[in-house]
Amino acid sequence: MTHNLPDSNRKTSSSRYLPIGRIENWKKTADGFLASSEVAQLQITVVRGGIIRVQASRNTFFDPNPYSVVAPAESVDFSLEEIEDAIHLKTAEIQLQMELVNGICSFFDSTGSLLNKDDALGISWIGTEVTCYKELQANEKFIGLGEKTGNLNRSGRAYTNWNTDYFGYGINDDPLYASIPFYIGLLEEKAYGIYFDNTHKSVFNFGASTDRFSYFNAEDGDLDYYFIHQPTVAGIISSYADLTGKMKMPPKWALGYQQCRYSYYPDREVLTLANTFRDKNMPADVIYLDIHHMEEYKVFTFDGEKFADPKGLISRLKEKGFRVIVILDPGIKTEDGYIPYEEGKSQGLFVKYPDTQDYVAQVWPGYCAFPDFTNPATRKWWMEKMEFYTEAGVDGFWTDMNEPASWGQFTPNLIEFDYDGNTSSHRKARNIYGMQMAKSTHEGSLKNLPNQRPFVLTRSGFAGVQRFAALWTGDNVSTEEHMLAGVRLVNSLGLSGIPFSGYDLGGFAGEATQSLYARWMSIAAFSPLFRAHTMINSNDAEPWAFGEEVEEISRTYMNLRYKLLPTLYSSFRKSSQTGLPIAASLAIAYSNDPLVFLPAYQNQYLFCDSFLIAPVESFKEIMKVYLPEGDWYYFFTDQPLKGGKVIYQDCPLNNLPVYVKAGSILALQNTVPHTAAENDGILSIHLYAGNEGSEYIHYEDDGLSFDFESGEYYERIFRFSASDQKLSINEATGNFSSQFDKLRIYFHGFTTDTIILGDENISLEQKSFAFLDKLTEFDPLPDLNYPHLSIPKLKYLDIKLQSEKMEIAGLF
Ligand code: GLC
Repeated sequence: MTHNLPDSNRKTSSSRYLPIGRIENWKKTADGFLASSEVAQLQITVVRGGIIRVQASRNTFFDPNPYSVVAPAESVDFSLEEIEDAIHLKTAEIQLQMELVNGICSFFDSTGSLLNKDDALGISWIGTEVTCYKELQANEKFIGLGEKTGNLNRSGRAYTNWNTDYFGYGINDDPLYASIPFYIGLLEEKAYGIYFDNTHKSVFNFGASTDRFSYFNAEDGDLDYYFIHQPTVAGIISSYADLTGKMKMPPKWALGYQQCRYSYYPDREVLTLANTFRDKNMPADVIYLDIHHMEEYKVFTFDGEKFADPKGLISRLKEKGFRVIVILDPGIKTEDGYIPYEEGKSQGLFVKYPDTQDYVAQVWPGYCAFPDFTNPATRKWWMEKMEFYTEAGVDGFWTDMNEPASWGQFTPNLIEFDYDGNTSSHRKARNIYGMQMAKSTHEGSLKNLPNQRPFVLTRSGFAGVQRFAALWTGDNVSTEEHMLAGVRLVNSLGLSGIPFSGYDLGGFAGEATQSLYARWMSIAAFSPLFRAHTMINSNDAEPWAFGEEVEEISRTYMNLRYKLLPTLYSSFRKSSQTGLPIAASLAIAYSNDPLVFLPAYQNQYLFCDSFLIAPVESFKEIMKVYLPEGDWYYFFTDQPLKGGKVIYQDCPLNNLPVYVKAGSILALQNTVPHTAAENDGILSIHLYAGNEGSEYIHYEDDGLSFDFESGEYYERIFRFSASDQKLSINEATGNFSSQFDKLRIYFHGFTTDTIILGDENISLEQKSFAFLDKLTEFDPLPDLNYPHLSIPKLKYLDIKLQSEKMEIAGLF
């Protein structure tokens, strides 16, 4: 094969394939080796256990992306030798073999079993476009790649990374708003990850229009990728998160229900909205101010008529337990006398043409200049400008249109960005722009709201954006297929290091039907970000706008979300430490089970480790659910179910198919109007009998500040040991006092009537229990559409919550 390749020294059209060619010399470095071929130079780096970086450049220097990778390299032992025309690099976890004749790289696990190999066409260029071709392996599956539409298994499709404003995108369209060039390859019993660290427009082809290879390429810049191997898919995601950073612990209020529309105004309407949530007993934490809060859409202004007293409004909302989030668009209206424009212009803070004229294009305010968020001076200025909002009492920020978007949607490539001192064209800077806006905004929040955890919601992003913001999936449509596609997008973001994400509940464009809204509400209650939004001129889309039945279904799922706060908050804490998702595609825990990839089941996911959620269209009253291996319970009735098979599930609108893994521990509280409202002091632990044990790390802190970093937290491990059927509750750690003083433990699926606490035998109480509220029968005729499911005679125990270790034995 190699002999048929074109001569790399030929003088011919630049639009031809040019392979890297023979490795002519190489030398060991402190953390890998440097090599040069006929046409390029290569650098191989052992980054840390299980991660090897491959860089190739046709220039005399490497040109790394300074924004995404944050992990300091670790010193790792490795061996290096040349054997039989190949360079062999070995670490304890991973091995690389590079053939001298053509630079082909193969990666093996520690047992020498092949994980991934370049195709014979290997590393190569067509003009400035650099590509790495990979052999397709038997039954190889590809998952991840961030905000990408389509199936969970991406085999057979190709995707482009080029951040794009795409109103009302189709459920198979590409590209969308954010680019995360990281995917996971699944082989039988093995997996690997590849993160391609190049911000230019890139393509990932997983076998579209070819049966020969998969590949990834970028239209310019280096081939610069990190090859990651760990024994499990979760381990690979965690390693990727070690590289590009983890979500920071958000404020607790960001986990509550968030209400948005384009736009709520004037101030009276915003107050009415807040009052309606409270009057109707529907828990909620956040109200958004979309672009109509501004004067002529000019950022850092309030419309003096619509919002005459923003500070007064926000303080009244705060009294009712609401936080306000404002939208921030990057476009700065080019209007003389408008201070942000005057400042940006005079201080040279905007994106420019190469002749130094400011680049101007149209967005909401009309003609705009664009802050260059890749310029440290611009970021500093932006952070300072944000005081305008924090001073008024704003707590959160929504960075939109940061692809960056402009009317015409075709930004000329010659415009220039500082790229932190390495001036670069739009070709290289576009994909990173949105993340740098999110970073500036995150840092602006830190600066102006000291000792408060920031909440930033961004539309655009790149690898590493999870360090600064949560992400939502843009302008979706009010359809059944969009509801399910949104779940897949969120699950894919979770596979790609972004745990905090969500979709516009109810759909942004178009009108949701009553049933669609109700179902979407129930699914979104199990999404990391729980936010409803709708576009300008659409019908009302608040949870009470679709009639009484939908209002009640919405309320019961909103209540459930708030009851689940202890579990959810603990799950966010864990995710901020591990980088693992809160909504986790089944491809993580069951990667070797082919059924989880079938289109019928690919939307299913684990939520907070213990729940299995099976999203379903609103028109279905019965659906097929695949329960993976193990034992499960139907959440609403405790019906035990055997896994490893497909079941038929009734799914009337008020009962989303939700299951709990046997052996799990859930922590619930009573419902509260907003996350900061005082609860009744009872922490309810739901323990599910099973042959597998589990561990739940309960976590609390003040929900707001960084004091938890200096010990102001409350953490304790609840462990269910299946072998000796015991629940142990370890001693509390940290200096924070729990909000709870009583413990109520519910025993699901156990037959015993007594337990042993310390050396005391205690009889359990029992009563009927329901996770969902009973819906009113509005129809005077008997109506069985919405059965109220409950668990009869659920056993429970009330005890005082002590900080010492506790143990409950005698379970069966
Ligand atoms: C964009 C956003 C949308 C927002 C609108 C107006 O379309 O995606 O969420 O409501 O702009 O600001």
